[in-house]
Amino acid sequence: MPINVKPLHPMFVGEVQDVDLSKPLSDETFAEIQAAIDTSAVLVFHGPKLSEDEQAAFAERFGPLYADNRILKTGLKDRIGPKLVDISNLNENDETMDRADRRRIFGLANRLWHTDASFKKVTAKYSLLHAHTVAPEGGETQYADMRAAYDALPQKMKDRIADLEAEHCIATSREKLGFTEFSDEEKNTLPPVRHGLVRTHPVTGRKALYLASHASHVVGWPVPEGRMLIHDLMEHATQPQFVHTHTWQVGDLVIWDNRCTMHRARPFDLDTYRRDMRRATVMDPDYMDAAVQKTA
Ligand code: OGA
Ligand code: MN
Repeated sequence: MPINVKPLHPMFVGEVQDVDLSKPLSDETFAEIQAAIDTSAVLVFHGPKLSEDEQAAFAERFGPLYADNRILKTGLKDRIGPKLVDISNLNENDETMDRADRRRIFGLANRLWHTDASFKKVTAKYSLLHAHTVAPEGGETQYADMRAAYDALPQKMKDRIADLEAEHCIATSREKLGFTEFSDEEKNTLPPVRHGLVRTHPVTGRKALYLASHASHVVGWPVPEGRMLIHDLMEHATQPQFVHTHTWQVGDLVIWDNRCTMHRARPFDLDTYRRDMRRATVMDPDYMDAAVQKTA
């Protein structure tokens, strides 16, 4: 049976109807989901909560997940298994984190527009974020269509940025909020990397802007000039016509293509509400040659 995808935005984002991810998926249905991501860039599924294993197993059908998902080396017990990233405001005792908690401060930077893992050599292909507990107000996730944003640029700008690279580093996005407390170990694991400002989608051939809060400057340009260009492009790409807001329900799973979208979390009351989200992150095979993998 073909899947039914309802468009949620004129340019991207589809809601997949009548697919229950807790049930086995045929290869045929999976292929249709894959094709729908290629066109829609963001897909929303509603359904029952998935276990960690179910979420990881679905994600792994798209390709291998990152082996090391923990950027902060806290030494504290993880709430969830190593295959998924904990995107909650909860600590190892399953209580809301307090203000001074490094993990809470680190996580605040998810509210800056970004694409996942642009600070790694092996960047992310897809992210699959799944809601276990949602905040009753706030805590939405917004997505920006970087293909539509690219298409809307004047030809002069397209020509100007065609061959430019930006430097991306996890410390860059955190410094924007004044978080600089990385240990030497954390810093050394994630040195800055360079990625083109424009990416061509390997399936659709569509070009997209590749930007993130992690991008600090343009390689070979004076830092302020490159930073200003990145700032201007980010501002362009996040205008309302390119943006969709997802309001979460428990059991939702949203998949997005990090090669052609940006996203950000919206604020909510971190002290009062629990928001428990878990992310599976699929590596981009185009960046996965053996040499690169070792350092990612
Ligand atoms: C992420 C992320 C945003 C959110 O999981 O990569 O940025 O709304 N999440 O939690
Ligand atoms: Mn993210």
